[in-house]
Amino acid sequence: MDPATPRAPFDAHVIVCQGTSCTEKGQGLPARELRTALFDSGLQHRVRVSRVTCLNLCSLSPNAVVYGAAPVPGAPGGGAWYCGLTPSKVRRVVEEHLRDGRPVTDLLVRWDDPSVSP
Ligand code: FES
Repeated sequence: MDPATPRAPFDAHVIVCQGTSCTEKGQGLPARELRTALFDSGLQHRVRVSRVTCLNLCSLSPNAVVYGAAPVPGAPGGGAWYCGLTPSKVRRVVEEHLRDGRPVTDLLVRWDDPSVSP
C-alpha cells in the first residue's frame, strides 16, 4: 500500500444483536465472548463492534453479522449472518473468519432454507 494512502480505521465491522430474544437465549455470553476473543486474537483495534436491538431473525438467536471480512455471496449486503451463537461459536467466528478470512459456513444463516423467516 502506498504510504500516502490513508488506512481504514478498521478492517471489519461486527453487528451484534442485543435485543430481548438474543439476550435472553444467549444470556449475554456471545457478546462478552466476542470482546474477549478479539483481544485474545489481537484484533480489538481492527474490528469495530456495534450493537443493535434486533436483526429480525429472533427465532435463530443469538445473532450477529460480520461485514468487511470475506463477504458471503448471496447474503444480504454480502454480510456473514451468524445465528445460534454460543461463546464457542463466537470464538470460531473470530478465529476463522475475522483472523483467518474464512467464513464459518456451518454457522451461517441459510437464506435458501424456507424455514428461515424474520
Ligand atoms: S432480538 Fe436479536 S434478532 Fe431479534
